[in-house]
Amino acid sequence: MSLELVVVKAIWVMLPAYFLNSVAVLVGGGRPIDGGRTWRGNRILGDGKTWRGGIGGFLAGMLLAIVLNEINGSLSAPLPVFPDQVIVSLPAGAMLGDTAGSFVKRRTGRIRGAPFPGVDQLSFVIGAFVLTWIVVPKWFSSTFTLPVFVTAIVLTLILHLGTNAVAYFLGLKNEPW
Ligand code: CTP
Ligand code: MG
Repeated sequence: MSLELVVVKAIWVMLPAYFLNSVAVLVGGGRPIDGGRTWRGNRILGDGKTWRGGIGGFLAGMLLAIVLNEINGSLSAPLPVFPDQVIVSLPAGAMLGDTAGSFVKRRTGRIRGAPFPGVDQLSFVIGAFVLTWIVVPKWFSSTFTLPVFVTAIVLTLILHLGTNAVAYFLGLKNEPW
């Protein structure tokens, strides 16, 4: 497989999860999932994990996977199709992974929004991968060949740094990372 095709494939399969993250930021707010509760002196998840952001992001991720399936039919070189189970497992896993990441951050004493390099960028990807691998192992292994898998991780790290830098220069974030 050419490098271009590996990169295009990796972006394609990750798009629902990237979109989900952006939509969660846009629609998030309101009641936190942990209801404000604490455990051992720290919030269970924190105010950055809300029902609205979680459910809105999940639905947005599903919707984008469905839209990509539609577009796929009209492409000259077909890209991976998202089967029904993956349309659910990819965004559900991403949301669960992101939430688990916040759980880990709170357990290590980091307040909401405090950086935890690695966890911040990859918890949603790992969640999406693990749940999809459990639900549809065959689709997972045939889609995420080693080059696509590695490219997806590297692209996520680059994209995260890039979008945060842009958000910082636009005054939407306090730190450029
Ligand atoms: N968000 C939300 N609900 C979710 C996920 C995200 O409302 N389930 C929104 C919140 O407004 C959150 C923003 O998206 O502040 C960015 O998400 P993220 O970086 O994951 O949260 P942080 O605020 O950085 O909190 P944490 O330290 O727990 O990661
Ligand atoms: Mg954050």
